[in-house]
Amino acid sequence: MKRIAIFASGSGSNAEKIADYFAGSADVSIELIVSNNPKAGVIDRARRYHIPVVLFDRTTFYQTDHITRLLQQQNIDLIVLAGFMWLMPGGLVQAFPDRIVNIHPALLPKFGGKGMYGHFVHEAVVAAGETESGITIHFVNEHYDEGAPIFQARCPVTPTDTPDDVARKVQVLEHEHYPRVVADVLATLPDRTA
Ligand code: GRF
Repeated sequence: MKRIAIFASGSGSNAEKIADYFAGSADVSIELIVSNNPKAGVIDRARRYHIPVVLFDRTTFYQTDHITRLLQQQNIDLIVLAGFMWLMPGGLVQAFPDRIVNIHPALLPKFGGKGMYGHFVHEAVVAAGETESGITIHFVNEHYDEGAPIFQARCPVTPTDTPDDVARKVQVLEHEHYPRVVADVLATLPDRTA
């Protein structure tokens, strides 16, 4: 059995797609949803899927190893970031080498880095007159959006597209691909619990 922890701070639509994808799986379980935002939509979604939620604040995340130890105690194989905004602390990255993945709503290395999240990304894509955007699923290191890429998918951006239009197209790609790519990454990982 491979065990996933999903980190999310927002609505959680990607977390829900991943939970749907692995529902009933004998090989993969979503053990935890981890969040810094008690008001996040993802909390309600977790409740509906009976997935335990762990909430933490900035001090706990950056000044203690509480979250790293919790994930180790639960034998988490893969950390999946799905709309989680904070930079991963060094200790957590080192404890889970090549075992943290993120989805970014643009074609990295373009439109990434600090401050490039959510709507800001799609606004920048439209302002730059891009003819395409998409998603990048990548491993996570201690820098925003710089880990090794795993998968990209593209969508066209037309001259009349608004940032909202681009966001909708990108979200379709996220929901279509993220669960399957997570499954592919899991399949390559040796079992931590063995
Ligand atoms: C997605 O666009 C993802 O690419 C980004 O944050 C957003 C999360 O959306 N990292 P949701 O909370 O999964 O609906």
